[in-house]
Amino acid sequence: MTTTPDPSLTAADWERRYQEGSTRWDLGQAAPGLQALLASDQAPIPGRAMVLGAGRGHDALLLAHHGFSVTAVDFAPSAIRAMAEQATDANLAITLLERDIFDLVPEWAGQFDYIVEHTCFCAIAPSLRPAYAQLAAKLLVPGGELLAIFFTHSRGGGPPFGVSPDELQATFSPYFAVDSLHPVANSIPTRQGEEHLGRFRRLE
Ligand SMILES: C[S@@+](CC[C@H](N)C(=O)[O-])C[C@H]1O[C@@H](n2cnc3c(N)ncnc32)[C@H](O)[C@@H]1O
Repeated sequence: MTTTPDPSLTAADWERRYQEGSTRWDLGQAAPGLQALLASDQAPIPGRAMVLGAGRGHDALLLAHHGFSVTAVDFAPSAIRAMAEQATDANLAITLLERDIFDLVPEWAGQFDYIVEHTCFCAIAPSLRPAYAQLAAKLLVPGGELLAIFFTHSRGGGPPFGVSPDELQATFSPYFAVDSLHPVANSIPTRQGEEHLGRFRRLE
């Protein structure tokens, strides 16, 4: 299945944003909420992690640095190139897939201990959210974890399309137990109060 529900959300549209340098989402670093989690005593034990819509790869590289075996997916060629360059510069090995996330199953089903989300869920059409939740579950081993920094702003339109904590619970609960879903304390100033860290465990 190829996802083209909105003309501004195709692979070509995202690639154009990279080529034009319209990449305001790019923090130039991993999500502060993910950095804090990995440095804390609540840090997940390293395992096989897939990063969806990984962009230039800041979160993927952080995970690799922390000992995770990382597969990073994006359908924009420029994002894949940037990740490859960053990985080479950092001397870190990550597997790169230039692919629509909705085309990952069945090939990659059940192969990951973690799915990592940071501004991919807000980049897809809201109508695809149930399919995203099902996809994340299918990519994980039973008991595997979705580690997510969700953009919980309440402005209309998008991308980025905001989501509320209640909507997150409703969307993911068919496949996941919500271990925790809390506001991020150390967001960058322009995202203060608009991010939640979710730790969702795939139901057996
Ligand atoms: C808002 S950017 C976030 C990138 C990165 N996660 C970050 O925080 O810097 C969204 C990314 O998801 C990618 N993306 C959007 N929809 C996708 C899809 N269906 N399959 C693969 N990648 C997708 C885009 O190409 C873009 O790189």
